[in-house]
Order: sequence, then C-alpha cells, then structure tokens
Amino acid sequence: LSVDELDSRRTRASLLLMDELEMDAVLVTTPLIIAIFVAGLCQFLVGYNTGVMNSPSSVVFSGHSTLEWSIAVSVFAVGGPWGAVAAGTLVDTRGRRGAMAICIYTFLIGGIIQTTAKNMIFITVARFIIGFASGFSSVLVPIYLGELAPPTLRGTLGTLTQFCLVTGIFVSDLLAFPFATEKGWRILFSVTAVASVIQILCFPFLIESPRWLLGRDRASRQARHIIKKLRGLRYDHEIEIEVNHFVSASHKQACDNNEENTSSKVAFLAMLMDKQIRKLLVCSLVLQMAQQLCGINAVFYYSTMFFEGLIDSPLLGTTLVGGVNVVATYIALLLMENTNRRTLILWSAGGMFVSSLMLVVCLLGYFSKMASLFFVISFVSFFEIGLGPIPWLIVAEMFEAKYVATAMSASCQLNWVCNFIVGLIFPYMQSSLGAFSFLPFAVVLLFTIIFVIVWLPETKGTTPEELRDDIVRSLSHLMLLSDDGSNENHSSSVGNPIDIEW
Ligand code: GLC
Repeated sequence: LSVDELDSRRTRASLLLMDELEMDAVLVTTPLIIAIFVAGLCQFLVGYNTGVMNSPSSVVFSGHSTLEWSIAVSVFAVGGPWGAVAAGTLVDTRGRRGAMAICIYTFLIGGIIQTTAKNMIFITVARFIIGFASGFSSVLVPIYLGELAPPTLRGTLGTLTQFCLVTGIFVSDLLAFPFATEKGWRILFSVTAVASVIQILCFPFLIESPRWLLGRDRASRQARHIIKKLRGLRYDHEIEIEVNHFVSASHKQACDNNEENTSSKVAFLAMLMDKQIRKLLVCSLVLQMAQQLCGINAVFYYSTMFFEGLIDSPLLGTTLVGGVNVVATYIALLLMENTNRRTLILWSAGGMFVSSLMLVVCLLGYFSKMASLFFVISFVSFFEIGLGPIPWLIVAEMFEAKYVATAMSASCQLNWVCNFIVGLIFPYMQSSLGAFSFLPFAVVLLFTIIFVIVWLPETKGTTPEELRDDIVRSLSHLMLLSDDGSNENHSSSVGNPIDIEW
C-alpha cells in the first residue's frame, strides 16, 4: 500500500470510529438505562447477600450454635449452582425478560422469608432461595446486557456487573452500622425484598432481548418495535440494518447452540476428549477453584467475627475492607485493558499469599493486632486485581463460541461448590487453627502461583482459535521431541514461564 492509501484508510477508519462513538452517545436510550438498572440491581443483590450475614451473627436469634450460623451463611452457595443450571435452560425457553421475572420474584420470596423469619430454619431456607436467585442472576445478567448493549459499550457493561456486586457487599457493610442490632436486623434483611419490589415496578418498562425474539422469528414485529426504541431509530431502513446486526449475531449463536442443544453433556464430554480443549477446561476449572479456595469469601462472610478481639471496631474494619474492595475493583478495570492476564493473576495470588502469611504472623503476636486489618485489606485488594475478575472473563477468551456456554456453566457450578465449602468450614478453621486459620489459603495460593507459571496460557489479545492453534503446535512439538528422545529447549507460546512479563 502507498503512504497516501494508508492515510486515507486511516482517516476513513477514524471517521467510522467517530461515527460509532457518537452513535453510542445517542444509543444510551431510556430502555437501555432501565435494563441496566434492573439487571444491575440483581447483581447488587448477589453482592448484598454475600455480605449481609457478616455483621449480625450475634444479634439474629442470639443463642444459635456455630454450626447453625455457618450452615445459614453457606447454604447461599448451595442454591447458587442450582440457580445457574436453571437459568441455563430458562433464558432460552422463557426469554431473557421472562427469566428476569423469575429471578426477581425468587429474590422477593427469599427476601420476604428472611425478613419475617421466626427462627434460624427460616433464615436458612431464605438464604438457599436467595442463593438460587444469585446463581440465576450470574448466568442471566451477562447474557441479557451483552445482547442489548451496542458493541462499543459491551466491555463496560460486562465489568459494570462485578462493580454492582462489590457495591452490594459494601452497602451491606454500611447498613450494618445502624441495623445490625437486636431490633434492627430485620430491616437489614428487608433490603432484598425492597430492591425486588423496585425491580417489579420497573418491570413493565423492561424490554425483551431483540436477539432472542429474532432468533425465534426473523419477521418479528415486536423485535422491530423494541429495536426502534432501544436504538432510538426513526426510519424503517435504519431499523432493518439493526435487525440484520441482531440476526447475524443470533444466527451465529443458533448455529453454535445447535451443536450443544443435541446434548450439553456430549459437549462437555467432547471437551474432555479433545486434548487441547481439555487443557483449557482444566485451566478454567482450576482458576475457579483457586478463586474460591483462596478464602476470599471467608473475609466477606465472616470478617466481623474474625476481627473480634483483634481491633476495636470489627464493624468498621469490615466496612473499610468493603470500601477498599470497591476501589480495588475500579483499579482492576483500568489495569485489565493493558496488562496480561497471567501477570495480573501472578501479582494477585502472590500478593494474597504474602498477605495471608503476614496475617498469620500478626495473629501469632509478632506485629500489632491492628496490623491484621491492613493485611486483610491487602488480601482483598490483591484479589480484585486478578483472581477476582479474571476467572470469569477468561472463559469467553479461552473457548470458541460453541464451547463457551458449557465451559461457563461447569465453571459456575464448581465456583459455587467451592464457595459453599469455604463458607461452611471457615468458622471451624478459625476455632481449630487459631492464628493459623489463613495458612490453608496460603497453601492454595502457592499452588495457584505454580499452576499459573507452569500451565496457564496467556489469553489477552488472542482469539480462542489462535489459542487453540498455539496449543496444537506446542503439543505436536512436545510429541516430536519425545519421538526424538530429546526434551531439551522445547518452547511454545502457551504456558511458557518465559512469557511472563513482571
Ligand atoms: C467474585 C467471586 C465472589 C466474591 C466476589 C468478591 O465475584 O466470584 O464469590 O464474593 O468476587 O468481590
């Protein structure tokens, strides 16, 4: 290409970009804002209910045993995987809007039972129901917003959901100040029901996903009407252009899904049978396990209990942790664009590893006990720059479209199971291991670091197809080497420690 030709292409490209950006300013329409608000509230409730049991342990039906409380806390994560499985089917059969109604009403029922509970059994049942709604939301919300968002807003909306979640945790900490009392705890629990009522009031204005409608009927008049409002369009030809965008996306999705619809079990088995995909699947599952077994939710479920006897105001400590968590999530958004995934996870797991060891040292009395607050904060902050967001977003980066849903659903279920284990056993770890209660988490983090260095491929800036080609190349290279009887100097761009940029 000549220099002139290049220049004119660049100008055209930047004009196109301008168009798109300017269009996006117009594209943030009222229906989109309502959809973001309602879906964001779902994720807010996931976070709120992650944190809400943290403070009122001694004021809710005082006299319960540790076992009763830890079951009530962790049963939230038993509901989660069931909700994720149910959402996997219902988002398709009921539509995104229908599934949203199910999610909201489930939150409402759980919220009402929790607020009016007569004893710990009611609280436990309510936590299970709310956990179900939370698992449901973690599958539904990214799909719904991903389908409505204009292409250039997709990344922002994707990260906004984690932001709503951590904000939910923080608000539950703040509200604990006035309401984590013998008289006030029902108000603390009523937030779930109140938020669901707000969602129900907005529901008549909530639009169905045009992509889902067009996937069922390409001629759908309802879809065209929604697209017109959603994109703020006036002319029929503009609407038809948008329809084509939605149809090509849903056609691709339908083609991809057809392979899965025959049986998602076959897809999972097929993934296990395929050498390269198996490697990616293992990575995805190990990261999900690491995300939970590193003990993050031990902090969000039990930090107030943990801080008792260590710092003057445990509640203030918990709130500080929640606040720093929101800031760290924001920093993670900025870092995510420019830093490799492997680098971020290594910093994250490394920082958490050191923080958990330092916590042990503090609890053993070598530092002031106050310093333990500092190390809990650094533990959480390091989590949010890597192990927090990356296991979720890496799934879409690793797998081709036809595998994403299956990989996501398997990852999501394993995540909630590990979440449950930590929620259930941490109070026992604390009473039996004492100062060493964070040591098992340090061991998990050490294994995570080794795993990432030896095994995890870099996914930033590659397509799943390129990643797969890389793995094929590295596997065949390895086979060639073993045929030669030599194992020296093998290198690949996948999972190679040399690729790490520190
Ligand atoms: C991640 C985890 C979730 C945890 C949250 C804390 O989203 O999946 O379990 O509570 O981070 O920020």
